[in-house]
Amino acid sequence: MIHARLPGPNSYNETAERGMMMIPPHLDFWARRIQLMVKPRRFEHVLRVAELAHQIALSNGLDADLAYEAGLLHDIARDISSTDLLKLAPPECPIDERHPLALHGRAGRVLLEYWGYNNEDVLYAVEEHTTGPSPDRPISAVVYIADVSEPGRNVNHHIREMAFDDLQGALDLAIGSKVRYLQGRGIEVHPRTMKVFNSLISSDR
Ligand SMILES: [Fe+2]
Ligand SMILES: [Fe+2]
Repeated sequence: MIHARLPGPNSYNETAERGMMMIPPHLDFWARRIQLMVKPRRFEHVLRVAELAHQIALSNGLDADLAYEAGLLHDIARDISSTDLLKLAPPECPIDERHPLALHGRAGRVLLEYWGYNNEDVLYAVEEHTTGPSPDRPISAVVYIADVSEPGRNVNHHIREMAFDDLQGALDLAIGSKVRYLQGRGIEVHPRTMKVFNSLISSDR
């Protein structure tokens, strides 16, 4: 199990100085822990995802504070070793075995639960952000969209814009284009992503 040594309070850079939302004080503990767990560039990505998730949730009438929290936590396991990922989240399928990085969502949930975190909506959002959100998990959908379309990625601007008015449409587009892209190149799609894709298709009928 991974043990993070925590720095002193406010050791991360002030988000306000970078023109970003302030990290709410009640998330200070987690922000410091995440900053220790991920590379500096990843931490910047995490802050952008949290802020975008907040904005998308707000414009869709969802709990924006919870979306921020989920965005902040989503990549907590992203930079740990493949060996640790495989221990924390044993593979469910051959894709997981070949690509342990795909496990960082499930591994993040395991770590958070081990450290006493217990909001189910956020735990699902962390778990599902790599493979796609389950039906009726709007915070998971918001984090998935924010993760693939945050401005630092410089892609998927159209998905980001759509999500402010039409979260479901943005999700259809994000999951659909990912599945079709992989299938078009003969690359196997993760079974969890296929399940999300099929549920989106059947709900559109
Ligand atoms: Fe991730
Ligand atoms: Fe991410």
